[in-house]
Amino acid sequence: MADLYDQIQAEIAKYPDRRGAILPALRHAQEHYGWLSPEAIEAVAEALDLSPARCVAVASFYDMFFLQPVGEHVVEVCTNLSCALVGSDQVLRRFEDELGVRAPGTSEDGRITLRRVECLGGCGWGPVVSVDEEYQEHFKPEDVAPLCERLRASRPTESHA
Ligand code: FES
Repeated sequence: MADLYDQIQAEIAKYPDRRGAILPALRHAQEHYGWLSPEAIEAVAEALDLSPARCVAVASFYDMFFLQPVGEHVVEVCTNLSCALVGSDQVLRRFEDELGVRAPGTSEDGRITLRRVECLGGCGWGPVVSVDEEYQEHFKPEDVAPLCERLRASRPTESHA
């Protein structure tokens, strides 16, 4: 816990008002706990002198924050217009079939969380899929099974290899 406390204090030092550090503080808390659990939110709220409700309200605005527990790997499919026009819905459906869940959801073995997200900023290279925060472009339905196989075989830190 001291790590998280120190990380948040280091972020606070960069801003004239401690509340300005809310996004990096939430980020550190999520990395520490794996998701923004009530305990994680409480740690951020206390450090920034904000209410937990305020922290949840801010976090809920951004796709990058998890307000529910996630699996060891997180796969996010952009389904905004540019990606939808080049087949992101088919990609998402293939993931749902492969993992046996509807997005947002986590496979029964707890390994892979599937989420539908807003624009990932790679509109010219769609469909874009984020795999543990690493973007994959021009993703096709036939890429789904090999990716899931690789993720099932790897631990969270190995998926970027
Ligand atoms: S619409 Fe998918 S990355 Fe922008």
